Amino acid sequence: MLITAVASEKGGIGKTTCTLGFAAELARRGVRVGIVDLDPRATATTWLGIDAPPGEHIGAILGQDDVDGAASDLALTSTWHENITVIPGSRDLAALESAPQEYGDLRLRRALQGWDRDVVLIDSPNRQGGYLIRSALTAAAQIIYATTPDEDGRSGVEWARSNVARFKQLSPLNPDLREVGVILTRWPDTIPTRDALGALEALEQDNGDLVLRPFIPERVVVRSARAGEVWWGDYARGQVVVDAFAGLTDTLWPQYPRKDDHR
Ligand SMILES: Nc1ncnc2c1ncn2[C@@H]1O[C@H](COP(=O)(O)OP(=O)(O)O)[C@@H](O)[C@H]1O
Ligand SMILES: [Mg+2]
Repeated sequence: MLITAVASEKGGIGKTTCTLGFAAELARRGVRVGIVDLDPRATATTWLGIDAPPGEHIGAILGQDDVDGAASDLALTSTWHENITVIPGSRDLAALESAPQEYGDLRLRRALQGWDRDVVLIDSPNRQGGYLIRSALTAAAQIIYATTPDEDGRSGVEWARSNVARFKQLSPLNPDLREVGVILTRWPDTIPTRDALGALEALEQDNGDLVLRPFIPERVVVRSARAGEVWWGDYARGQVVVDAFAGLTDTLWPQYPRKDDHR
């Protein structure tokens, strides 16, 4: 099982959209995908059409030591695709962030062992150095950063990367965590503005080859799909966004090629 965290220290820059875009693409390739919604706003959970019973969310893993088998117990199947299951997020997670837990950082990693998923994607919260993000960094084999082409996105990646560097320096728990990409989202592909082009240049200065192509184009259909709690690929106009995620998936998960009957 390959666990990937999607991160940034800023909100509203496309972390959840990227997590779900990759999940949908991998699911179409026949991959069994597990999503861990670590964000107290639980945006991924809602968008994926999941309505979790009270108390049955990721907090049940992060709040106690007896976590063996908990991932399969808590996971629910998304209306998006039968190959996508989700460990729901919850507002209650916010309380855990401020309550230090002995050995807590190890719970998520332990809980995910033996889950019947080929790929796990962790939708991470923004908070620097907190319990939730430490749990994600401890569990993940690799990390990707999401960013918009602007100063918010750029500094979000910068801070997230410095947090990861500190984690790798100070925590003995996961020294092999790999940074595998910076994903540029909401790219104005029809008319690339001067601001967006400037932000791209700055992002490449900061992160070099980590900035992957293609970029995810900005499309209104993504917002409508979110409001309707469906996948944008269900709409013809969402196809360019689907194609962009497919291109990035070829790079990030080459072991799972496109299928002949890819719709
Ligand atoms: N490619 C896109 N085109 C248009 N809107 C987008 C796109 N990607 C994300 N958005 C919108 O931007 C907002 C923030 O995205 P989100 O993925 O929730 O960010 P984060 O998880 O970092 O907070 C959401 O309203 C989302 O619908
Ligand atoms: Mg989010």
